[in-house]
Amino acid sequence: MGNSLLRVLSLFLLNTLLSCGHTEYAELTFEPNSTTLYSGEHVNLTCHMRESNVSEWFYEFKWNDKPLVPISSTNVLRIPELTPDRNGDYQCIAHHNSSEENRRSNRATLSVSAHRPRATVRASRTSIPVGGSLTLTCSVEESAGWSYDWFTRSPDAEETAIATNPVNNSLSISQGGSYWCRGRRTHSGFCSEKSHVHHIDRTLSNRSFVVLQHNWTQIFSGETISVRCEIQGGGDTQWEYEWRTTSSHQPVTGPDTAPTHSEYRLGTASVFHSGEYWCKARADWYSSTEWSEAFQLRVTPDKPRPRLTADNTTITGKGSVALSCSVENPSEWRYDWFRRTSASSAAQILRYNETDDGISISEEGIYSCRGRRGDTTFLTEDSNRVTIENRVSHKASVALQPDWSLVFSGETITVRCEVPADVLTEWEYEWTKPNSTTVPTHNEYRIVNASSSDSGSYRCLAKDKKNLNSTTEWSDDVTLTVSGEKEF
Ligand SMILES: *[C@@H]1O[C@H](CO)[C@@H](O)[C@H](O)[C@H]1NC(C)=O
Ligand SMILES: *[C@@H]1O[C@H](CO)[C@@H](O)[C@H](O)[C@H]1NC(C)=O
Ligand SMILES: *[C@@H]1O[C@H](CO)[C@@H](O)[C@H](O)[C@H]1NC(C)=O
Ligand SMILES: *[C@@H]1O[C@H](CO)[C@@H](O)[C@H](O)[C@H]1NC(C)=O
Ligand SMILES: *[C@@H]1O[C@H](CO)[C@@H](O)[C@H](O)[C@H]1NC(C)=O
Ligand SMILES: *[C@@H]1O[C@H](CO)[C@@H](O)[C@H](O)[C@H]1NC(C)=O
Ligand SMILES: *[C@@H]1O[C@H](CO)[C@@H](O)[C@H](O)[C@H]1NC(C)=O
Ligand SMILES: *[C@@H]1O[C@H](CO)[C@@H](O)[C@H](O)[C@H]1NC(C)=O
Ligand SMILES: *[C@@H]1O[C@H](CO)[C@@H](O)[C@H](O)[C@H]1NC(C)=O
Ligand SMILES: *[C@@H]1O[C@H](CO)[C@@H](O)[C@H](O)[C@H]1NC(C)=O
Ligand SMILES: *[C@@H]1O[C@H](CO)[C@@H](O)[C@H](O)[C@H]1NC(C)=O
Ligand SMILES: *[C@@H]1O[C@H](CO)[C@@H](O)[C@H](O)[C@H]1NC(C)=O
Repeated sequence: MGNSLLRVLSLFLLNTLLSCGHTEYAELTFEPNSTTLYSGEHVNLTCHMRESNVSEWFYEFKWNDKPLVPISSTNVLRIPELTPDRNGDYQCIAHHNSSEENRRSNRATLSVSAHRPRATVRASRTSIPVGGSLTLTCSVEESAGWSYDWFTRSPDAEETAIATNPVNNSLSISQGGSYWCRGRRTHSGFCSEKSHVHHIDRTLSNRSFVVLQHNWTQIFSGETISVRCEIQGGGDTQWEYEWRTTSSHQPVTGPDTAPTHSEYRLGTASVFHSGEYWCKARADWYSSTEWSEAFQLRVTPDKPRPRLTADNTTITGKGSVALSCSVENPSEWRYDWFRRTSASSAAQILRYNETDDGISISEEGIYSCRGRRGDTTFLTEDSNRVTIENRVSHKASVALQPDWSLVFSGETITVRCEVPADVLTEWEYEWTKPNSTTVPTHNEYRIVNASSSDSGSYRCLAKDKKNLNSTTEWSDDVTLTVSGEKEF
């Protein structure tokens, strides 16, 4: 009795153990054990028996609680080619070959992805530095358990596999080229899609620079400008160029601005062209220079206005004065000079496209200047105007004809105002003479029937008819004496 009670008790204990702890005695695992498997892959389901001899059991595999295959003595179920409709919960049940004992395993979920995942290549940097290398990394999303294959293009553009350690998903490269990779499931050989082709540039030691076509210190709105990409030791290489800028005028491909050329024509500069410019040059498909250092372009909105100065605004006689046209960075400009004869008359061009910012003039007039950018049509504003006066220093002189300083009443004598030779100027004259009421403006003053009232000092000066401010100096006095009686 006691004995049978003991047997019932131990059976009860065993039952308790079986009903509550049976999962500890059967375990279903997947091989490969991966969160995601892919269509076409195979999987091995294994029903592991703990603390018992595997060969004492028969195995039943269930899929979503439905029998999958007939009960057999093998604890491994191989599903050779997975499809997404094989998703679901799997469980194995072990039946002991000589007792009523059953063991149920855990339920394991299988998830089969219908799509073939694509490998992705990442590069540790954008290009291979001079004398260095970079690391490419291949990865496949969603699942572990991959090996990696790497490919590149041979010179004849064929796909070529690169020999590497397939377990390592990194590849170190020191040659520019096209690279792509593929993941391969280590256990099944199932392959991912190949990654996109990754284009890797090798950086050349040759450096690139952005320079302004004209090395001008300041650029003004309205100028026609180009920037150029220069390559240190560029040699005969047929470079192809790339441009980048922070300006709000982005490079556009077109016949005029085609930014694959060394020259990038910005056209007519505006403040919107201000910004930083970079270029790089490509020697071939896989090697290019680094981006140049930034070139700062600053476009000044307003045209400059030169300042015209004269060292003296008065020309004396046959002398001259120096005019100077000043603008910032004078050597970067050429100069046009203008002269007007009066404030209202039209300007006449005097000199054109002069290198020198100064000229010497000997003519009176109203002068102005402007700067021009040598080989372009860009002009500065016109300068201020400067009036240059001509004060003739030559003294007029009074001549008597006949040359007698003593004449007798009733005689005829001519008093003439003489100006040193200047055939071009038209003069008018001013006289001082004794007891005159009328002021003749002619150069000659004829005394007919001289009388004592004609005696006295005669002085004259000449004035330029076109500019009455321009005069000779007063002549010296010439004294005429009219004697009352001829002495016979
Ligand atoms: C996969 O392996 C982990 C531990 O390596 C285990 O916990 C898990 O139950 C396994 N899953 C399957 C379905 O085999
Ligand atoms: C699955 O089982 C087969 C046959 O036993 C074996 O060749 C294969 O390598 C196994 N696969 C995995 C992923 O273990
Ligand atoms: C399981 O049983 C078989 C056949 O009786 C025997 O050959 C094998 O050694 C046993 N294995 C273990 C681990 O007990
Ligand atoms: C159960 O399996 C073991 C091991 O394979 C074997 O030795 C034994 O004969 C089997 N018993 C029955 C009743 O088949
Ligand atoms: C994997 O490859 C990278 C690049 O070639 C290398 O630096 C790294 O040491 C390798 N890792 C292993 C574990 O071999
Ligand atoms: C351009 O001008 C700057 C400053 O005037 C000067 O330092 C530089 O050498 C010039 N570059 C060229 C290529 O003439
Ligand atoms: C780069 O510069 C070197 C000298 O520094 C020169 O020999 C070579 O021709 C240049 N061009 C290229 C494409 O490397
Ligand atoms: C301008 O020239 C006149 C005549 O030669 C001279 O008297 C005057 O001092 C000069 N003025 C200046 C500012 O040089
Ligand atoms: C000015 O002179 C330079 C150098 O002689 C020349 O290149 C340029 O074309 C000239 N400009 C004009 C507008 O004549
Ligand atoms: C000259 O003047 C005197 C005095 O004024 C006068 O008497 C005389 O008639 C004049 N002679 C002539 C030719 O006009
Ligand atoms: C000039 O005329 C005044 C009177 O009108 C007279 O007194 C004076 O003597 C005259 N002078 C000469 C030099 O004739
Ligand atoms: C002549 O001088 C006066 C006074 O100095 C001046 O107002 C006038 O503009 C000048 N005329 C010319 C043609 O220079």
